[in-house]
Amino acid sequence: MTLHLSSHMRHEHLMYGDVKLFAGTACPDLAEKIARYLKLPLSGRDIITFPNDNLFVKLHGSVRGQDCFVIQTTSAPVHRNLMELLILIQTLRLDSAARITAVVPYLAYARSDKKDQPRVPITARLVCDMIEVAGADRYITMDLHAGQIQGFFSIPGDVLTAFFSLIDYIRPKLATMRNPVVVSADLGFAKKARNYAQALNLPLAFIEKRRLGNDAKAEALTMIGDVKDRDAIIVDDEIDTGGSMAQAIKLVKEMGAHDIYVSFVHPGLTRDAPQRLGALPVKEYITTDTIPIPADKMAHFPGNLTILSMAPLLGEVIWRVNAGVSVGALFNE
Ligand code: R5P
Repeated sequence: MTLHLSSHMRHEHLMYGDVKLFAGTACPDLAEKIARYLKLPLSGRDIITFPNDNLFVKLHGSVRGQDCFVIQTTSAPVHRNLMELLILIQTLRLDSAARITAVVPYLAYARSDKKDQPRVPITARLVCDMIEVAGADRYITMDLHAGQIQGFFSIPGDVLTAFFSLIDYIRPKLATMRNPVVVSADLGFAKKARNYAQALNLPLAFIEKRRLGNDAKAEALTMIGDVKDRDAIIVDDEIDTGGSMAQAIKLVKEMGAHDIYVSFVHPGLTRDAPQRLGALPVKEYITTDTIPIPADKMAHFPGNLTILSMAPLLGEVIWRVNAGVSVGALFNE
């Protein structure tokens, strides 16, 4: 996707005041890059952890009448990161910010979005409620696990996607691939995988997968479609423990694929996912920086992990929200 860079333009009549960027501690590099894109500083704040593990936030300056954006992803440590986000939002509210937008590139608990068995919570709903109750007027997030989660918020928001950045990166590689095929890592991602296949003008195959319990174990079962003698581009929204993807990669290989590429948006990479995935025969893993990947995790990938930054997209949308300019127009909508 080519962004129409407009952050240098100054809007004269901002309804909510100037942009003030705040960041929690969850994704400092992404926050810095967003700030650089917008040519603005990150505003000063202290975040202190007391000995009893309670958090305390203090802003370095007044935000009265300002348009505040809190950049905080909610990957692990989820509860610490979530509380930082909520406390930052409440602090801005109590300091009379004109408007507060929660910028949450990865929304925690998005997989807990329905009662699919008796006596279980819908935690995604709870998280959305908490963000609102803390005082957010808007939210910006990316590639929700299920689109319907938007309905758990009653404040307006923008759900962005890494789709355009990922296909723009993959497209030039097609020329050297052998009969490439897009493979959906599970049926839950099938509709979105179809979008990848359509945008890249490729055939599509699906993996049918079954979860074995509530403890994140997955078993890949059947391949629907043809991957034999083809290069495969496996797509999914997130990799957490890597269980689903490792199964998918093994199955695709067993079914006779040549080179394997893996494209996914949110690199949770928990537990031993980096070790596990780094050891598999994958030509390239392509992901984004909605969740930071520390150097020790990166080290397990033998130079085959590409991270596309979402900072230009998030920065541009922040600018558009502040200026009251269409976000959909960015995607020709
Ligand atoms: C599941 O529905 C998602 O699309 C991902 O496949 C899943 O979140 C990955 O989890 P894990 O890496 O732990 O298997």
